[in-house]
Amino acid sequence: MNIAVLKESKASERRVALTPDVVKSLSKAGFKCGIESEAGVASGFYNKAYEAAGGLIFPDRAALLGDADVLLKVNAPTADELQLLRDGSALISFLYAYTVPELVDLCLRKKISAFAMDAVPRISRAQKMDALSSQANLGGYKAVLLGANALGKIFPLMMTAAGTITPARVLIFGAGVAGLQAVATAKRLGAVVEVTDVRPETKEQVESLGGRFLEVQAEGVKTEGGYASEVSAEYLQKQKELVSRHVADADIVITTALVIGKKAPLLVTAEMVESMKPGSVIVDMAVESGGNCALSEFNKTVIKHGVTIIGESNLPAMVPVNASELYAKNISTLLLHLATNEGFKWEMEEEVTKGSLITHQGELVHPFTKEILAKTV
Ligand code: NAI
Repeated sequence: MNIAVLKESKASERRVALTPDVVKSLSKAGFKCGIESEAGVASGFYNKAYEAAGGLIFPDRAALLGDADVLLKVNAPTADELQLLRDGSALISFLYAYTVPELVDLCLRKKISAFAMDAVPRISRAQKMDALSSQANLGGYKAVLLGANALGKIFPLMMTAAGTITPARVLIFGAGVAGLQAVATAKRLGAVVEVTDVRPETKEQVESLGGRFLEVQAEGVKTEGGYASEVSAEYLQKQKELVSRHVADADIVITTALVIGKKAPLLVTAEMVESMKPGSVIVDMAVESGGNCALSEFNKTVIKHGVTIIGESNLPAMVPVNASELYAKNISTLLLHLATNEGFKWEMEEEVTKGSLITHQGELVHPFTKEILAKTV
């Protein structure tokens, strides 16, 4: 089976889908790994390392894609990249298929079997394939560092001859994968950390990392498979009342709140930003899904009411070495689950296949994508 790995074309992307280490194990398992020349340079993986691991370097992407049985990428391919891929071959990458109807169409026309990394079910059996978690974890870490860098203060308590510096206060919205890593990172740097989440079960996790949990005394949250699936307006109002004061006191606010399949909830209003001290910082990790902060801007850092608001949508790409290493493990584990070096197994009723396969043999086979796309037509 021939694998193709492309140099990512999205602006500011520095990750790569396979690292030399993973190419080595796939080659040992009998796969042929073709790598576009310099695909890994931005993450520190050079052509030579891929070649030493058994990979083949292709300076010409048309030759690489024309010969591939499966294309492995971090981001969804562009239409041009997809056009170069053989009809009837396969693709595995982050896709968010319901947001790219033209690409889904092209996959249907070219009978490409597209698997979405973002649709791999978050079940224990598939933890090693869970790229959403591996990348959100690194994103949560980097969010704290970006926030710390933009703040004119240090995090820890420091007693010096010239006076005592009080610790920075960090407030985190959402204690999922990204939020919990942000708690751990901010604590390690010495901040006082407070957290709010709609799922009461996260309290224990937050406290075990040394954070303080702000508990909203209200009903109105529905959960599905451990995720918030619906949050009532009444709950959000109570939460707003509780956290407003904490936002005003915070030096850094990091927002990671997500309700599965919905636009991100608006949690930090313009008035709340105005109530913050000049010089404080907000990092809105949910900016790509609409943002948790009313004043954040996509892929921009802006200063509003003296508050620096960071709306970086691709934090994992800022730590490309580890992000690529983990992603390569995720995607190769998925590939080895779906295929042998002879080809795909096409176990259509198997949970991971069923959850992640979007298009197959010219058909849109993913119910969630089908449902959302039907609404947008
Ligand atoms: P997750 O689903 O594990 O966690 C989201 C958390 O938000 C859940 O614990 C949920 O209960 C909580 N939540 C929902 N509504 C809330 C509310 N009203 N108040 C407080 N908490 C609430 O998601 P994960 O993987 O941690 O990702 C979090 C966000 O970060 C997502 O929007 C994701 O797209 C984004 N992300 C952004 C990156 C970037 O580079 N900017 C990188 C990785 C993830």
